[in-house]
Amino acid sequence: MIRDRGLPERPLSWQLCPRCERELSCASSDAQCPDCGGLLEVRHRPPRERGETLQAIFGARRGRLDALDASGVWRYRELVLPEVRVEEVVTHPEGNTPLLRRPAVSRWAGVEALFLKHEGHNPTGSFKDRGMTVGITQAKRIGARAVACASTGNTSASLAAYASSAGIPALVFVPAGQVALGKLAQTLAYGARTLLVKGDFDACFALVREAAEKLNVYLLNSINPFRIEGQKTIVFEALEQLLFDPPDWIALPAGNLGNTSAFGKALKEANELGLIPRIPRLACIQASGANPFARAFREGFARPHRVKAETVATAIRIGDPASLERAIASIRLSHGVVTDVTDEEILEAKAVVDASGVGCEPASAASVAGVRKLAAEGVIGAGERVVAVLTGHILKDPGLLLRYHQETEPAPARANRPIEIDPTLSAVEAVLSRAAS
Ligand code: F0G
Repeated sequence: MIRDRGLPERPLSWQLCPRCERELSCASSDAQCPDCGGLLEVRHRPPRERGETLQAIFGARRGRLDALDASGVWRYRELVLPEVRVEEVVTHPEGNTPLLRRPAVSRWAGVEALFLKHEGHNPTGSFKDRGMTVGITQAKRIGARAVACASTGNTSASLAAYASSAGIPALVFVPAGQVALGKLAQTLAYGARTLLVKGDFDACFALVREAAEKLNVYLLNSINPFRIEGQKTIVFEALEQLLFDPPDWIALPAGNLGNTSAFGKALKEANELGLIPRIPRLACIQASGANPFARAFREGFARPHRVKAETVATAIRIGDPASLERAIASIRLSHGVVTDVTDEEILEAKAVVDASGVGCEPASAASVAGVRKLAAEGVIGAGERVVAVLTGHILKDPGLLLRYHQETEPAPARANRPIEIDPTLSAVEAVLSRAAS
């Protein structure tokens, strides 16, 4: 234990089980608390600098080319993994994603000051790269022989890419037939050993946990606390882009609840370090067919829920979220809300985001659909400033896109049917005049 006598000073970082307060060094590869099974958290000695001084340090690194500063994760290294040495870091780089405004999306959602934090601009097309750069760096630091995860597709693509960069063998467990095309293609191409498990995500997760423990493989699902440290930087970067004038709300899609956990931790630390004067409220959005967190919220978190998950947003088709406990802490800390939206609402939000020229994958559109629902209910005020996180890229799920636009009968209101024509100018002209009318 780190707290033990004999150590003159705490190390810069350590792992803590918030449930039983057991502490572990960062060198431990345990996936969970060895005493009580609780999820671990990484804690750091706070940096000496605070408030505006810390803001200025982060700001000065923006746009610099050296390995750590070029990354939108490692630019915040004092709050991510302060003891890291540059030669240990496995970075693409990642992060530095845009904060966008699109009037058409704002109008549809009913919130004028709506900002879209587009995490699909990461190297493998999702926010997972922010956690993975830290997770794989940590795997390298502890000398892991192999890394593994269960995934609905994005974590596996990210793990595969970063593990290849680091030269560490990767094993991924995905639900057979339930992973979007782009994600499966990436995972194979980046070179991970890919196991198509005949079961859902929750079955994959149970299996990888057991495999990691028994086969001495380092587990890199989002229960891994080092991944959470990287994912915090979505919040730090969005706050910085808003010049540290915090929004009223941050909306995000919620599945296994790692990101919700990371956002709460980020907001708490940003507030404690004087980066922001107050904490925005989190709005976590689930698909109504995969909504155990929303159900629990409606009951005041009286008990955990488990559902058989079903939704078109395959990224968040999760019925038994692993990070429930720490996600509840994030909602309580931020006076947040959890709600759910139907697949129809997700698809409509996605069509609006896509047609605005921004584009995102289905699960990401849940955050925009959720903002619209909460604004209509009066939970989000029309004058409030909202950041909605788009977690993944439009090309992650081309199968769903083509079905929506080309095949679904009757055609959804926003479907953009392709038009087959004869190879003649008059045919083109006829289409043009119809488009103009
Ligand atoms: N959005 C996207 C695009 C995702 O891929 C995920 C999770 C989430 C939102 C939800 O985040 O699980 O932290 O609550 N994808 C995981 C995966 C499960 O395996 O790629 P969460």
